[in-house]
Amino acid sequence: MQKELSKILEEAKSVKIKTKEDLENFRIKFLSKKADLQNMLGDFKNMSADDKRIFGKPLNETKSEITAIFESYAHLYNNDSIVDELDSTLPTEAIKIGGKHPISIMQQEVIEVFKNLGFSIAQGPEIEDDWHNFSALNFAEDHPARDMQDTFFVNNEFALRTHTSSVQVRVMENNKPPIRIIAPGRVYRNEAVSARSNCFFHQIEGLVIDEESNFADMKQTLYHFVAKLFGEREIRFRASYFPFTEPSAEMDIYLGTSTESDYKLTKGTGWLEVLGCGMLDPNVMRNCNIDPEKYSGYAFGLGIDRLAMLRYGIKDIRQMFQNDVRFLNQFKHL
Ligand code: PHE
Repeated sequence: MQKELSKILEEAKSVKIKTKEDLENFRIKFLSKKADLQNMLGDFKNMSADDKRIFGKPLNETKSEITAIFESYAHLYNNDSIVDELDSTLPTEAIKIGGKHPISIMQQEVIEVFKNLGFSIAQGPEIEDDWHNFSALNFAEDHPARDMQDTFFVNNEFALRTHTSSVQVRVMENNKPPIRIIAPGRVYRNEAVSARSNCFFHQIEGLVIDEESNFADMKQTLYHFVAKLFGEREIRFRASYFPFTEPSAEMDIYLGTSTESDYKLTKGTGWLEVLGCGMLDPNVMRNCNIDPEKYSGYAFGLGIDRLAMLRYGIKDIRQMFQNDVRFLNQFKHL
């Protein structure tokens, strides 16, 4: 019986299956009721318990090997569009192509504007030391931003950067003016997560240092940026405070209140705050070995997530990070 089984298996393995018909013949010969193997399986029922123990295993193994051969071809021929021979002219199944994330799209757009103004791109680590994230930027020892409430500490020495201004410090330390860079990247803050704020977000910060850069240059640069991104809009600067700039300002753009969403977004004022900026504090330059008597500079920083929400009408910031394809698919065409 063993011999017979191996013979059947050898034979099954040697059959060439090239068409649907071949496959059907294979089935009749090896797996149908008339097949030798089936007869043997039928006899099995009447065997003595001892014989069953001996022949049960090889019988089952042979059957499953032959079934596997059959199935490996069957799934090819189940599809009616596959005919006898492989037809290489048939169209393949459409390949699913992903899209860009709204944050990436927005980030690229902002980068493009500044690249055209001669800025280059700088990058730095997301895990930063106190010096690059705070001290070099003139944050006082007891500044609240260093507090546990705002900063995710990794250990005594390192924290997740709270802004990409840390990259500006690295650039100043390693380069001589003129400097003209933007630093895009992810930043982290220990804030309550809600529809409008997340514990991480994306910034682009700019830094310009030259012998004669001044507030008017900065205003013009930012005005150009707004015009490129939102079209010609009114902008305004409000006095503000950052430890690393003096004077400091916040820039708003005018959206108006004619639509309900603009009204809500601007809390009825028509003005939307988009970025912080200012003239680089001389202390910061000194910290980075740049002579503030010879050079002056300006810096600005903006959040990409909010711009993306504004542009695409995204109501909840959390939606952008849930990896729900139904959400992501909406940006595929962009
Ligand atoms: N670093 C500031 C922030 O994260 C933004 C900023 C950058 C402000 C540069 C002024 C100049 O809020």
